[in-house]
Amino acid sequence: MVEDNRKFSVVIAGGGSTFTPGFVINLLKSQDKFPLRKLKFYDNDAERQKKIGDAVAIIMKERAPEIEFSYTTDPKEAFTDVDFVMGSIRVGKYEMRSYDEKIPLKYGVYGQETTGPGGMAYGLRSIKSIIEIIDWMEEYSPNAWMINYSNTIAIVSEACRRFRPNAKVINICDMPIDLMDRMAVIAGRKSFKDLDFKYYGLNHFGWWKEVRDRKTGEDLTPMLKEYVAKNGYWVGGEYDEHTEASWEATFKEAAEVYQLDPTTLPNTYLQYYYFPQYEVKNADPKHTRTDEILEYRQKLVFGECERIVKEGTAKGNLWDYSEVHSEYIVDICHAIAYNTHEKFLANIPNNGAISNIADDAIVEVPCLFGADGVQPICQGEAGRLQYGMINEQVTCEKLVVDAYEQKSYVKMLEAFALNKTVPDASVAKKILDDMMVVNKPYWPDLK
Ligand code: NAD
Ligand code: G6P
Ligand code: MN
Repeated sequence: MVEDNRKFSVVIAGGGSTFTPGFVINLLKSQDKFPLRKLKFYDNDAERQKKIGDAVAIIMKERAPEIEFSYTTDPKEAFTDVDFVMGSIRVGKYEMRSYDEKIPLKYGVYGQETTGPGGMAYGLRSIKSIIEIIDWMEEYSPNAWMINYSNTIAIVSEACRRFRPNAKVINICDMPIDLMDRMAVIAGRKSFKDLDFKYYGLNHFGWWKEVRDRKTGEDLTPMLKEYVAKNGYWVGGEYDEHTEASWEATFKEAAEVYQLDPTTLPNTYLQYYYFPQYEVKNADPKHTRTDEILEYRQKLVFGECERIVKEGTAKGNLWDYSEVHSEYIVDICHAIAYNTHEKFLANIPNNGAISNIADDAIVEVPCLFGADGVQPICQGEAGRLQYGMINEQVTCEKLVVDAYEQKSYVKMLEAFALNKTVPDASVAKKILDDMMVVNKPYWPDLK
Protein backbone atom coordinates (compact mmCIF):
# COMPACT_ATOMS: atom_id res chain seq x y z
CA MET A 1 0.00 0.00 0.00
CA VAL A 2 1.26 3.49 -0.85
CA GLU A 3 1.74 5.55 2.27
CA ASP A 4 -0.60 8.52 2.40
CA ASN A 5 0.73 11.29 4.57
CA ARG A 6 -1.04 14.17 2.89
CA LYS A 7 -2.13 17.13 4.97
CA PHE A 8 -4.48 19.73 3.64
CA SER A 9 -4.73 23.50 3.41
CA VAL A 10 -8.15 25.06 3.98
CA VAL A 11 -9.39 28.63 3.62
CA ILE A 12 -12.69 29.75 5.09
CA ALA A 13 -14.18 32.50 2.94
CA GLY A 14 -16.32 34.49 5.32
CA GLY A 15 -13.87 34.12 8.19
CA GLY A 16 -15.99 36.53 10.21
CA SER A 17 -19.00 34.17 10.08
CA THR A 18 -20.73 33.28 13.34
CA PHE A 19 -20.23 29.63 12.38
CA THR A 20 -16.42 29.90 11.98
CA PRO A 21 -15.21 29.08 15.53
CA GLY A 22 -17.50 26.03 15.77
CA PHE A 23 -16.25 24.83 12.40
CA VAL A 24 -12.63 25.27 13.50
CA ILE A 25 -13.23 23.22 16.64
CA ASN A 26 -14.78 20.50 14.50
CA LEU A 27 -11.79 20.57 12.14
CA LEU A 28 -9.45 20.17 15.11
CA LYS A 29 -11.52 17.28 16.48
CA SER A 30 -11.19 15.54 13.12
CA GLN A 31 -7.43 15.68 12.60
CA ASP A 32 -7.16 11.91 12.36
CA LYS A 33 -9.71 11.93 9.57
CA PHE A 34 -8.85 15.13 7.73
CA PRO A 35 -5.38 16.37 8.77
CA LEU A 36 -4.47 20.00 8.15
CA ARG A 37 -1.18 21.73 7.45
CA LYS A 38 -2.64 25.19 7.00
CA LEU A 39 -5.81 27.08 7.92
CA LYS A 40 -6.64 30.54 6.63
CA PHE A 41 -9.57 32.93 6.91
CA TYR A 42 -10.63 35.33 4.21
CA ASP A 43 -13.24 38.09 4.61
CA ASN A 44 -13.86 41.49 3.10
CA ASP A 45 -14.65 42.98 6.52
CA ALA A 46 -11.26 43.17 8.27
CA GLU A 47 -12.63 44.35 11.58
CA ARG A 48 -15.29 41.65 11.93
CA GLN A 49 -12.89 38.90 10.86
CA LYS A 50 -10.16 40.09 13.28
CA LYS A 51 -12.41 39.46 16.29
CA ILE A 52 -12.90 35.82 15.30
CA GLY A 53 -9.36 35.48 13.91
CA ASP A 54 -7.62 36.61 17.10
CA ALA A 55 -9.63 34.15 19.21
CA VAL A 56 -9.01 31.30 16.75
CA ALA A 57 -5.28 32.13 16.76
CA ILE A 58 -5.30 31.34 20.49
CA ILE A 59 -7.28 28.12 19.96
CA MET A 60 -4.78 27.04 17.29
CA LYS A 61 -1.72 27.92 19.38
CA GLU A 62 -3.08 25.90 22.32
CA ARG A 63 -4.34 22.89 20.43
CA ALA A 64 -2.56 22.59 17.09
CA PRO A 65 0.54 24.77 16.93
CA GLU A 66 1.82 22.65 14.03
CA ILE A 67 -1.00 23.94 11.79
CA GLU A 68 -0.10 27.28 10.22
CA PHE A 69 -2.91 29.76 10.86
CA SER A 70 -3.52 33.23 9.43
CA TYR A 71 -6.29 35.56 8.35
CA THR A 72 -6.36 38.11 5.56
CA THR A 73 -8.48 40.35 3.36
CA ASP A 74 -6.12 39.89 0.42
CA PRO A 75 -7.54 37.39 -2.13
CA LYS A 76 -4.15 36.37 -3.50
CA GLU A 77 -2.81 35.53 -0.07
CA ALA A 78 -6.07 33.78 0.86
CA PHE A 79 -6.50 31.56 -2.18
CA THR A 80 -2.87 30.65 -2.88
CA ASP A 81 -1.80 27.13 -1.85
CA VAL A 82 -5.17 25.82 -0.71
CA ASP A 83 -6.83 22.43 -1.25
CA PHE A 84 -10.31 23.39 -0.01
CA VAL A 85 -12.24 26.64 0.02
CA MET A 86 -15.19 26.81 2.44
CA GLY A 87 -17.81 29.27 1.23
CA SER A 88 -19.45 30.88 4.25
CA ILE A 89 -20.09 34.46 3.18
CA ARG A 90 -23.17 36.57 3.77
CA VAL A 91 -23.20 39.35 1.20
CA GLY A 92 -24.65 42.45 2.84
CA LYS A 93 -24.34 40.81 6.27
CA TYR A 94 -27.17 40.82 8.81
CA GLU A 95 -28.06 44.39 7.95
CA MET A 96 -29.32 43.26 4.54
CA ARG A 97 -30.88 40.04 5.89
CA SER A 98 -32.99 42.26 8.08
CA TYR A 99 -34.35 44.08 5.02
CA ASP A 100 -35.00 40.72 3.28
CA GLU A 101 -37.19 39.80 6.23
CA LYS A 102 -38.88 43.12 6.93
CA ILE A 103 -39.67 44.59 3.51
CA PRO A 104 -41.97 41.73 2.38
CA LEU A 105 -43.77 41.83 5.75
CA LYS A 106 -44.66 45.48 5.08
CA TYR A 107 -46.81 44.19 2.23
CA GLY A 108 -48.25 41.11 3.94
CA VAL A 109 -45.72 38.65 2.51
CA TYR A 110 -43.48 36.55 4.71
CA GLY A 111 -39.85 37.67 4.83
CA GLN A 112 -37.29 34.89 5.14
CA GLU A 113 -33.54 34.54 4.60
CA THR A 114 -33.72 32.03 1.73
CA THR A 115 -37.43 31.87 0.88
CA GLY A 116 -39.73 34.11 -1.18
CA PRO A 117 -38.70 37.66 -2.16
CA GLY A 118 -36.17 37.85 0.71
CA GLY A 119 -34.40 34.70 -0.44
CA MET A 120 -34.40 35.86 -4.05
CA ALA A 121 -33.02 39.27 -3.05
CA TYR A 122 -30.26 37.54 -1.08
CA GLY A 123 -29.49 35.21 -3.99
CA LEU A 124 -29.14 38.14 -6.36
CA ARG A 125 -26.68 39.77 -3.93
CA SER A 126 -24.55 36.63 -3.59
CA ILE A 127 -23.90 35.67 -7.23
CA LYS A 128 -21.13 38.16 -8.04
CA SER A 129 -19.11 37.49 -4.88
CA ILE A 130 -19.32 33.70 -5.22
CA ILE A 131 -18.20 33.84 -8.86
CA GLU A 132 -15.35 36.12 -7.81
CA ILE A 133 -14.20 33.62 -5.17
CA ILE A 134 -14.40 30.73 -7.67
CA ASP A 135 -12.25 32.72 -10.08
CA TRP A 136 -9.62 33.49 -7.41
CA MET A 137 -9.54 29.85 -6.40
CA GLU A 138 -9.04 28.77 -10.02
CA GLU A 139 -6.34 31.36 -10.56
CA TYR A 140 -4.30 30.77 -7.40
CA SER A 141 -5.06 27.09 -6.59
CA PRO A 142 -6.36 25.38 -9.73
CA ASN A 143 -6.65 21.96 -8.08
CA ALA A 144 -8.72 23.12 -5.12
CA TRP A 145 -12.37 22.29 -4.39
CA MET A 146 -14.86 24.83 -3.09
CA ILE A 147 -17.49 23.55 -0.68
CA ASN A 148 -20.03 26.33 -0.67
CA TYR A 149 -22.86 26.85 1.79
CA SER A 150 -23.33 30.58 1.27
CA ASN A 151 -27.00 31.19 0.55
CA THR A 152 -29.25 31.48 -1.33
CA ILE A 153 -27.87 28.10 -2.41
CA ALA A 154 -30.46 27.29 -5.10
CA ILE A 155 -29.77 30.58 -6.88
CA VAL A 156 -26.01 30.46 -6.35
CA SER A 157 -26.01 26.90 -7.77
CA GLU A 158 -27.96 27.99 -10.85
CA ALA A 159 -25.42 30.82 -11.35
CA CYS A 160 -22.56 28.28 -11.06
CA ARG A 161 -24.27 26.02 -13.61
CA ARG A 162 -24.69 28.89 -16.03
CA PHE A 163 -21.51 30.94 -15.60
CA ARG A 164 -18.88 28.47 -14.31
CA PRO A 165 -20.14 25.02 -15.40
CA ASN A 166 -16.75 23.35 -15.04
CA ALA A 167 -15.73 24.87 -11.73
CA LYS A 168 -14.85 22.54 -8.88
CA VAL A 169 -17.58 23.85 -6.62
CA ILE A 170 -20.13 21.84 -4.62
CA ASN A 171 -23.12 23.64 -3.14
CA ILE A 172 -24.47 22.08 0.03
CA CYS A 173 -26.98 22.60 2.85
CA ASP A 174 -27.15 21.41 6.43
CA MET A 175 -30.94 21.39 6.88
CA PRO A 176 -31.59 17.80 5.75
CA ILE A 177 -28.62 16.69 7.88
CA ASP A 178 -30.06 18.48 10.89
CA LEU A 179 -33.46 16.89 10.28
CA MET A 180 -31.96 13.43 9.74
CA ASP A 181 -30.07 13.81 12.98
CA ARG A 182 -33.44 14.36 14.64
CA MET A 183 -34.91 11.36 12.80
CA ALA A 184 -32.00 9.24 14.03
CA VAL A 185 -32.69 10.18 17.66
CA ILE A 186 -36.44 9.67 17.19
CA ALA A 187 -35.72 6.20 15.82
CA GLY A 188 -33.36 5.36 18.69
CA ARG A 189 -30.17 5.71 16.66
CA LYS A 190 -27.21 7.94 17.46
CA SER A 191 -26.82 10.33 14.56
CA PHE A 192 -27.64 10.98 10.91
CA LYS A 193 -24.68 8.78 10.04
CA ASP A 194 -26.75 5.77 11.12
CA LEU A 195 -29.38 6.46 8.46
CA ASP A 196 -29.71 5.78 4.77
CA PHE A 197 -32.17 7.85 2.78
CA LYS A 198 -33.97 8.67 -0.46
CA TYR A 199 -34.62 12.40 -0.84
CA TYR A 200 -35.44 14.74 -3.69
CA GLY A 201 -36.43 18.33 -4.40
CA LEU A 202 -34.72 21.69 -4.40
CA ASN A 203 -32.73 23.39 -1.69
CA HIS A 204 -34.94 24.15 1.33
CA PHE A 205 -37.70 22.54 -0.71
CA GLY A 206 -37.53 18.76 -0.54
CA TRP A 207 -39.08 15.48 0.57
CA TRP A 208 -37.79 12.16 1.93
CA LYS A 209 -39.17 9.16 0.10
CA GLU A 210 -37.62 6.77 2.54
CA VAL A 211 -35.38 6.60 5.62
CA ARG A 212 -33.69 3.36 6.63
CA ASP A 213 -31.20 2.09 9.17
CA ARG A 214 -27.86 2.27 7.39
CA LYS A 215 -26.52 -1.06 8.67
CA THR A 216 -29.57 -3.32 8.75
CA GLY A 217 -31.64 -1.65 6.01
CA GLU A 218 -34.68 -1.62 8.34
CA ASP A 219 -37.32 0.74 6.96
CA LEU A 220 -37.80 3.45 9.60
CA THR A 221 -40.17 5.57 7.48
CA PRO A 222 -43.47 4.31 8.96
CA MET A 223 -42.46 4.95 12.58
CA LEU A 224 -40.97 8.34 11.68
CA LYS A 225 -44.20 9.35 9.91
CA GLU A 226 -46.20 8.39 12.94
CA TYR A 227 -43.95 10.50 15.16
CA VAL A 228 -43.79 13.50 12.80
CA ALA A 229 -47.58 13.52 12.36
CA LYS A 230 -47.85 14.19 16.10
CA ASN A 231 -44.68 16.05 17.09
CA GLY A 232 -43.08 17.27 13.91
CA TYR A 233 -39.30 16.94 14.23
CA TRP A 234 -39.30 18.21 17.80
CA VAL A 235 -37.23 15.95 20.05
CA GLY A 236 -37.11 18.01 23.23
CA GLY A 237 -35.18 17.16 26.41
CA GLU A 238 -31.43 17.39 26.45
CA TYR A 239 -31.24 17.19 22.67
CA ASP A 240 -33.07 20.48 22.28
CA GLU A 241 -31.62 22.21 25.33
CA HIS A 242 -30.03 24.98 23.23
CA THR A 243 -32.62 25.15 20.45
CA GLU A 244 -33.95 28.69 20.00
CA ALA A 245 -37.70 29.36 20.22
CA SER A 246 -38.20 30.14 16.51
CA TRP A 247 -36.50 26.87 15.53
CA GLU A 248 -38.64 25.03 18.07
CA ALA A 249 -41.74 26.41 16.33
CA THR A 250 -40.37 25.32 12.96
CA PHE A 251 -39.64 21.76 14.07
CA LYS A 252 -43.07 21.45 15.64
CA GLU A 253 -44.86 22.90 12.64
CA ALA A 254 -43.54 20.02 10.55
CA ALA A 255 -46.53 18.04 11.90
CA GLU A 256 -48.83 20.28 9.81
CA VAL A 257 -46.44 20.39 6.88
CA TYR A 258 -46.40 16.59 6.79
CA GLN A 259 -50.20 16.45 6.30
CA LEU A 260 -49.93 17.84 2.77
CA ASP A 261 -48.28 14.67 1.52
CA PRO A 262 -48.29 11.76 3.98
CA THR A 263 -46.44 9.58 1.47
CA THR A 264 -43.23 11.53 2.18
CA LEU A 265 -41.45 13.29 5.05
CA PRO A 266 -41.01 17.03 4.44
CA ASN A 267 -38.18 19.53 4.74
CA THR A 268 -39.24 22.12 7.33
CA TYR A 269 -38.77 25.02 4.88
CA LEU A 270 -41.96 23.90 3.09
CA GLN A 271 -43.88 25.63 5.89
CA TYR A 272 -43.31 28.96 4.12
CA TYR A 273 -44.82 27.68 0.86
CA TYR A 274 -47.76 25.73 2.30
CA PHE A 275 -48.78 28.20 5.02
CA PRO A 276 -47.60 31.70 4.03
CA GLN A 277 -50.60 33.40 5.65
CA TYR A 278 -50.01 31.69 8.97
CA GLU A 279 -46.34 32.73 8.86
CA VAL A 280 -47.24 36.36 8.21
CA LYS A 281 -49.84 36.36 10.97
CA ASN A 282 -47.32 35.03 13.46
CA ALA A 283 -44.50 37.40 12.46
CA ASP A 284 -43.53 40.62 14.19
CA PRO A 285 -42.52 43.00 11.39
CA LYS A 286 -40.31 44.92 13.81
CA HIS A 287 -38.54 41.92 15.27
CA THR A 288 -37.56 39.14 12.88
CA ARG A 289 -35.07 36.25 12.92
CA THR A 290 -32.17 38.66 12.28
CA ASP A 291 -32.95 40.54 15.48
CA GLU A 292 -32.98 37.26 17.38
CA ILE A 293 -29.55 36.40 15.96
CA LEU A 294 -28.11 39.81 16.79
CA GLU A 295 -29.42 39.48 20.33
CA TYR A 296 -28.35 35.87 20.83
CA ARG A 297 -26.00 34.01 18.45
CA GLN A 298 -23.91 36.93 17.27
CA LYS A 299 -23.57 38.28 20.82
CA LEU A 300 -22.66 34.85 22.15
CA VAL A 301 -20.06 34.12 19.45
CA PHE A 302 -18.38 37.51 19.47
CA GLY A 303 -18.61 37.76 23.26
CA GLU A 304 -16.89 34.40 23.61
CA CYS A 305 -14.15 35.43 21.14
CA GLU A 306 -13.58 38.62 23.10
CA ARG A 307 -13.30 36.63 26.32
CA ILE A 308 -10.77 34.21 24.81
CA VAL A 309 -8.61 37.10 23.58
CA LYS A 310 -8.84 38.89 26.92
CA GLU A 311 -7.98 35.83 28.98
CA GLY A 312 -5.40 34.63 26.46
CA THR A 313 -6.77 31.08 26.64
CA ALA A 314 -9.53 29.08 24.95
CA LYS A 315 -9.88 26.61 27.79
CA GLY A 316 -13.50 25.68 28.43
CA ASN A 317 -14.80 27.55 25.41
CA LEU A 318 -18.38 27.45 24.21
CA TRP A 319 -17.77 25.28 21.14
CA ASP A 320 -16.07 22.43 22.99
CA TYR A 321 -19.34 21.59 24.68
CA SER A 322 -22.04 22.48 22.19
CA GLU A 323 -22.89 20.08 19.42
CA VAL A 324 -21.98 21.76 16.16
CA HIS A 325 -23.52 20.64 12.95
CA SER A 326 -20.58 21.61 10.75
CA GLU A 327 -19.25 18.11 11.41
CA TYR A 328 -20.73 16.94 8.11
CA ILE A 329 -18.72 19.58 6.21
CA VAL A 330 -15.54 17.98 7.53
CA ASP A 331 -16.97 14.60 6.46
CA ILE A 332 -17.52 15.95 2.96
CA CYS A 333 -13.92 17.23 2.73
CA HIS A 334 -12.76 13.80 3.90
CA ALA A 335 -14.89 12.06 1.27
CA ILE A 336 -13.40 14.19 -1.51
CA ALA A 337 -9.82 14.05 -0.22
CA TYR A 338 -9.86 10.26 0.21
CA ASN A 339 -12.24 9.39 -2.63
CA THR A 340 -14.63 7.48 -0.36
CA HIS A 341 -17.82 7.86 -2.43
CA GLU A 342 -19.89 8.46 0.68
CA LYS A 343 -23.45 9.66 0.27
CA PHE A 344 -24.44 13.26 1.04
CA LEU A 345 -26.83 15.72 -0.56
CA ALA A 346 -25.70 18.29 -3.13
CA ASN A 347 -27.36 20.92 -5.31
CA ILE A 348 -26.60 20.01 -8.90
CA PRO A 349 -28.08 20.13 -12.43
CA ASN A 350 -30.77 17.44 -12.49
CA ASN A 351 -29.72 15.51 -15.61
CA GLY A 352 -32.24 12.77 -14.94
CA ALA A 353 -31.80 12.40 -11.16
CA ILE A 354 -35.52 13.23 -10.76
CA SER A 355 -36.89 11.55 -13.86
CA ASN A 356 -39.81 13.89 -14.63
CA ILE A 357 -37.95 17.18 -14.00
CA ALA A 358 -35.95 19.07 -16.65
CA ASP A 359 -32.26 18.28 -17.04
CA ASP A 360 -31.16 21.86 -16.45
CA ALA A 361 -33.07 22.37 -13.18
CA ILE A 362 -30.85 22.66 -10.11
CA VAL A 363 -32.07 19.96 -7.72
CA GLU A 364 -31.02 18.71 -4.28
CA VAL A 365 -30.49 14.95 -4.37
CA PRO A 366 -28.23 12.35 -2.77
CA CYS A 367 -24.84 12.08 -4.46
CA LEU A 368 -21.70 10.02 -4.04
CA PHE A 369 -18.84 12.33 -3.02
CA GLY A 370 -15.35 11.52 -4.25
CA ALA A 371 -12.14 12.92 -5.69
CA ASP A 372 -13.91 13.61 -8.99
CA GLY A 373 -16.74 15.58 -7.34
CA VAL A 374 -20.31 14.37 -6.98
CA GLN A 375 -22.27 11.69 -8.81
CA PRO A 376 -26.04 11.96 -8.40
CA ILE A 377 -28.13 8.95 -7.43
CA CYS A 378 -31.41 8.66 -9.35
CA GLN A 379 -34.45 9.22 -7.13
CA GLY A 380 -37.24 8.32 -9.58
CA GLU A 381 -40.28 10.50 -10.22
CA ALA A 382 -41.43 13.54 -8.28
CA GLY A 383 -45.03 13.16 -7.04
CA ARG A 384 -47.70 15.33 -8.69
CA LEU A 385 -47.77 17.97 -5.93
CA GLN A 386 -43.99 18.10 -5.90
CA TYR A 387 -43.83 18.25 -9.71
CA GLY A 388 -46.01 21.36 -9.75
CA MET A 389 -44.21 23.06 -6.88
CA ILE A 390 -40.70 22.24 -8.12
CA ASN A 391 -41.33 23.58 -11.61
CA GLU A 392 -42.70 26.85 -10.27
CA GLN A 393 -39.86 27.33 -7.78
CA VAL A 394 -37.11 26.36 -10.25
CA THR A 395 -38.52 28.92 -12.66
CA CYS A 396 -38.33 31.63 -9.96
CA GLU A 397 -34.72 30.73 -9.27
CA LYS A 398 -33.83 30.81 -12.97
CA LEU A 399 -35.58 34.17 -13.39
CA VAL A 400 -33.38 35.65 -10.63
CA VAL A 401 -30.27 34.53 -12.51
CA ASP A 402 -31.80 35.92 -15.74
CA ALA A 403 -32.25 39.23 -13.89
CA TYR A 404 -28.56 39.15 -12.89
CA GLU A 405 -27.37 38.20 -16.37
CA GLN A 406 -29.55 40.67 -18.28
CA LYS A 407 -29.62 43.34 -15.54
CA SER A 408 -33.38 43.09 -15.98
CA TYR A 409 -35.94 44.62 -13.63
CA VAL A 410 -38.74 42.75 -15.41
CA LYS A 411 -37.12 39.35 -14.84
CA MET A 412 -36.80 40.05 -11.12
CA LEU A 413 -40.40 41.23 -11.03
CA GLU A 414 -41.47 38.00 -12.78
CA ALA A 415 -39.50 35.98 -10.22
CA PHE A 416 -41.27 37.70 -7.33
CA ALA A 417 -44.70 37.59 -8.97
CA LEU A 418 -44.48 33.90 -9.84
CA ASN A 419 -43.39 32.89 -6.35
CA LYS A 420 -45.88 30.86 -4.33
CA THR A 421 -45.39 33.11 -1.29
CA VAL A 422 -46.47 36.26 -3.18
CA PRO A 423 -50.21 36.66 -3.81
CA ASP A 424 -50.28 39.33 -6.50
CA ALA A 425 -47.99 40.99 -9.09
CA SER A 426 -48.75 44.45 -7.72
CA VAL A 427 -47.53 43.31 -4.29
CA ALA A 428 -44.46 41.83 -5.98
CA LYS A 429 -43.74 45.22 -7.54
CA LYS A 430 -44.04 47.10 -4.26
CA ILE A 431 -41.63 44.72 -2.55
CA LEU A 432 -39.19 44.86 -5.44
CA ASP A 433 -39.23 48.65 -5.60
CA ASP A 434 -38.36 48.92 -1.90
CA MET A 435 -35.68 46.27 -2.29
CA MET A 436 -34.14 48.05 -5.27
CA VAL A 437 -33.34 51.01 -3.03
CA VAL A 438 -31.61 49.17 -0.17
CA ASN A 439 -29.84 46.65 -2.43
CA LYS A 440 -28.23 49.30 -4.64
CA PRO A 441 -24.68 48.62 -3.39
CA TYR A 442 -25.01 44.87 -4.08
CA TRP A 443 -27.38 44.19 -6.99
CA PRO A 444 -26.61 44.78 -10.64
CA ASP A 445 -28.22 47.99 -11.87
CA LEU A 446 -31.61 46.52 -12.91
CA LYS A 447 -33.24 48.40 -15.80
P1 NAD B 1 -22.26 36.09 9.12
O1 NAD B 1 -22.86 37.37 8.64
O2 NAD B 1 -22.04 35.87 10.56
O3 NAD B 1 -20.86 35.91 8.39
C1 NAD B 1 -20.66 36.10 7.04
C2 NAD B 1 -19.29 36.75 6.80
O4 NAD B 1 -19.15 36.91 5.39
C3 NAD B 1 -19.15 38.15 7.41
O5 NAD B 1 -18.01 38.19 8.23
C4 NAD B 1 -19.00 39.06 6.20
O6 NAD B 1 -18.13 40.14 6.42
C5 NAD B 1 -18.45 38.10 5.16
N1 NAD B 1 -18.64 38.53 3.78
C6 NAD B 1 -19.71 39.10 3.22
N2 NAD B 1 -19.49 39.30 1.91
C7 NAD B 1 -18.26 38.83 1.63
C8 NAD B 1 -17.47 38.76 0.45
N3 NAD B 1 -17.93 39.20 -0.71
N4 NAD B 1 -16.24 38.23 0.54
C9 NAD B 1 -15.76 37.77 1.72
N5 NAD B 1 -16.47 37.81 2.87
C10 NAD B 1 -17.70 38.33 2.82
O7 NAD B 1 -23.16 34.94 8.49
P2 NAD B 1 -23.57 33.52 9.06
O8 NAD B 1 -24.92 33.63 9.65
O9 NAD B 1 -22.49 32.95 9.86
O10 NAD B 1 -23.74 32.69 7.73
C11 NAD B 1 -22.72 32.57 6.75
C12 NAD B 1 -23.28 31.97 5.48
O11 NAD B 1 -23.56 30.61 5.66
C13 NAD B 1 -24.59 32.60 5.02
O12 NAD B 1 -24.61 32.66 3.62
C14 NAD B 1 -25.64 31.65 5.51
O13 NAD B 1 -26.83 31.76 4.78
C15 NAD B 1 -24.90 30.36 5.26
N6 NAD B 1 -25.38 29.18 5.97
C16 NAD B 1 -25.70 28.15 5.19
C17 NAD B 1 -26.06 26.96 5.72
C18 NAD B 1 -26.50 25.90 4.75
O14 NAD B 1 -27.13 24.98 5.10
N7 NAD B 1 -26.21 26.00 3.46
C19 NAD B 1 -26.11 26.80 7.11
C20 NAD B 1 -25.77 27.89 7.93
C21 NAD B 1 -25.37 29.08 7.33
C1 G6P C 1 -30.37 26.25 8.23
C2 G6P C 1 -30.30 26.32 6.74
C3 G6P C 1 -29.34 27.39 6.30
C4 G6P C 1 -29.74 28.71 6.89
C5 G6P C 1 -29.82 28.59 8.38
C6 G6P C 1 -30.39 29.85 8.98
O1 G6P C 1 -29.17 25.80 8.75
O2 G6P C 1 -29.91 25.11 6.16
O3 G6P C 1 -29.31 27.46 4.90
O4 G6P C 1 -28.81 29.71 6.53
O5 G6P C 1 -30.66 27.53 8.76
O6 G6P C 1 -30.30 29.76 10.34
P1 G6P C 1 -30.33 31.05 11.26
O7 G6P C 1 -30.09 30.47 12.61
O8 G6P C 1 -29.20 31.93 10.73
O9 G6P C 1 -31.67 31.66 11.08
MN1 MN D 1 -29.50 25.45 4.01
